[in-house]
This record gives sequence, structure tokens and C-alpha cells, in this order.
Amino acid sequence: MARTFLAVLLPVHGTPSTERGHSPYNVRSTSGVHTMRYRKFGRTGWNVSEIGYGMWGLAGWTGSDDAESLDALQRAVDLGCNFFDTAWAYGDGRSEQILGKVLRDNAGKKLYVATKIPPKNRQWPSRRDFTLDDCFPPDYIEEYVNESLANLGVEKLDLIQFHTWEDRWLNDERLPRAVEKVRTAGKAQAVGVSVNRWEPCNGIRAVLEGVADAVQVIYNIFDQNPEDALFPICRMKNVAIIARVPFDEGTLTGTLTVDSKWPKGDWRNTYFVQENLKNSVARAEALRPLVPAGNSMAQMALRFILNNPDVSTIIPGMRKRRNVEANIAVSDQGPLPAPLHKQLRAHRWDRNPTSWSQ
Ligand SMILES: NC(=O)c1ccc[n+]([C@@H]2O[C@H](COP(=O)([O-])OP(=O)(O)OC[C@H]3O[C@@H](n4cnc5c(N)ncnc54)[C@H](OP(=O)(O)O)[C@@H]3O)[C@@H](O)[C@H]2O)c1
Repeated sequence: MARTFLAVLLPVHGTPSTERGHSPYNVRSTSGVHTMRYRKFGRTGWNVSEIGYGMWGLAGWTGSDDAESLDALQRAVDLGCNFFDTAWAYGDGRSEQILGKVLRDNAGKKLYVATKIPPKNRQWPSRRDFTLDDCFPPDYIEEYVNESLANLGVEKLDLIQFHTWEDRWLNDERLPRAVEKVRTAGKAQAVGVSVNRWEPCNGIRAVLEGVADAVQVIYNIFDQNPEDALFPICRMKNVAIIARVPFDEGTLTGTLTVDSKWPKGDWRNTYFVQENLKNSVARAEALRPLVPAGNSMAQMALRFILNNPDVSTIIPGMRKRRNVEANIAVSDQGPLPAPLHKQLRAHRWDRNPTSWSQ
């Protein structure tokens, strides 16, 4: 894997089709090792790499190193990744600034930028009693779109997302108006909602009422419940789906143990409380015999998501070159064979928000 790859992307294989799944435009990276496939991003018409890039860890988790992150990001670009998910909240603009450098270093390429407005009260997840004024008053929406534009050094965002969400906020007509203002001012082409953990239905109204062009939701071997209602409605409205947290924050990489601990201040200490860690590790261990030859558990987890044609892009969190290479290689391998996919469906784990789930 140490060899140098060219960065050129060669268009266009196949002919256009109306299928929602794999894009007809299979742009290939020239590595000769990896082929990145592209999918339609809902009604925007964008062709996005089916493996995108989650940028929380590199400016929000302990153990990040900017040089290592920039190397990993450039590697992803070189291998055909063109969709990057960041947020103001990832290091108070730091992750956005890092992405801005990547954009400038790759000025000749179209890289899609998705970022997020943090809730004004800085509370994750949202709670039912939070109001629009607590989280996203209209002036504040505009202010943070401008902040993100400045951090990224661009004039227009491809996708601006709400970093927490309550469908109930749509009862307040100021919200759709504020969203429309962002669009018509040309500050963002598309608008999305990032739905709270384990609440995939709390976003359906945003899809149905045309506020969201994209929905970002946790979807992985365990969290299959977005398939029940959210995905069919997104399909019906041609709204893009961003599958986030594909490894359940690390469990589905198969590298956690019941003794796993993170440095002081790392949020995972508060998510993987004993109860969660114990159950998560047991469930990951149950998957181990199913990992196909030549794959890691992480790769199996990504391929499982690729089986779903409703998903536009998956955004694994990555900070290391070796993880970028392993994850992007999955696009070439494609979805899992149907019998294995069926077996994994039985590992669905329905969960409800709790005091520690965040
Ligand atoms: N509310 C929201 O909107 C929200 C919430 C959570 C996440 N997100 C987005 O979704 C993205 C993904 O979620 P996440 O980063 O929280 O969790 P994740 O993708 O489920 O897991 C990330 C972890 O997996 C590791 N990893 C990646 N590839 C691997 C591989 N091939 N083998 C072994 N380990 C591997 C990463 O290591 P390294 O980092 O060391 O490479 C990191 O520790 C975020 O980065 C963010 O963009 C959004």
C-alpha cells in the first residue's frame, strides 16, 4: 500500500439509468487497486462517493494529530472520496478549517462539503422540551452558516445540516422561512437534518414537508430501524441518506473489549458506560464468525450498509491512512452476498435513547 497513486478520476462508465442505487457514473480511481463507486445524492443530482468521510474524530476525539489527519484526508481524495461531513462543533470550527485546507489543496476537483450548525444551547442530543429559540433561532442560523463559510474558506456550502433536530420545530413557520433564506441567498445548495441517536422517525416530517434535501442518520448492522419508515419516505421524496456511525462508534470494528478505556476527557468514556460496553462487545463478538475471508469486521460492517440502495453515502470516521485505504477498498468489493446479508439482519439491535446515549 506504500506506492504512489495518481489522483486523476476518469469519467464515465455505463449509461444513465433511473435506478436509485449505484450511480451509472462509475468513476474509477487510477490506483488499479481501488474502484470507488458513486451514488446519486437524492434530488440534488450530485454523484457522491459511496464511501464518504466522517470528520468528527479529527477535531473532537483525543489522540488526533493534524498531520496524520491531513495525510488520511488527502489519501481519501486521491482514492476517489468526494463527500466530507464536518460540523462547526467539531473543535469549534477546527475540523472545518482542516477541510478548507483540503479543498484548497485539491482546487481542481469537486469535493462535496457537508457541515452542520450547532444548536445554540450546545446540548446534544436535543430534548423534546427544547424550543426553536433554544436551538436554532433564525438569526442564529444565518450567523453560523456565515461562520462555517469563513472556516471553510468557500462562498457556498454544498450541504448545511441542523446538528440536532426536532420535527416539532416545524410548527414554527420561521424555520422553513429561515431555511429558504439560506438557499435563496446562495449560501448553501442543499439543507439537511442530522437526526438524534436512535430516533430515526424524528426527521420524517422534515422530509415530507420538503425542508430536508438530505437526512443524516445512524445506520449499521445493529441500528437497522431507519429502514422501517425513514428510508421508504426518503425514497418517495428523493431525499439523500447519509449513513453515519457505521461502526457504532467503534464496536463494529471488533477492536473494543470489556476493558476498553479512553484518555480522560474523551467522550467515549461517557458513551461506552459499563452497561453499553458489555452489551456492545458481546454483540460484536457474536459477529466474528460471520466475517468473510479477506475482510475485517469493519469492512463487513461497511459492506452491509452498501447492500441498501437507499443509502447515498456512508461516512466512517477516519483519522488514519490505513483505515481510509481499508474502508475505501470496500466500495470495490461491493455489497455482501445475499445469504450473509440475511444472517447479519438478524443482529439488528433496537435501542431507545437513555441517559448516556448522547
Ligand atoms: N449528530 C451528528 O450529526 C453526528 C454524530 C456522530 C457522528 N457524526 C458523523 O458521522 C461520522 C462517523 O461517526 P463516528 O466517527 O462517530 O463513528 P464511527 O464511524 O462509527 O467509528 C469511528 C471509529 O472507527 C475507527 N475506524 C475507522 N475505520 C476503521 C477500520 N477500517 N478499522 C478499524 N477501525 C476503524 C476510527 O479510528 P480512527 O479515527 O483512529 O481512524 C474511529 O475510532 C463522524 O465522524 C461525523 O462526521 C455525526
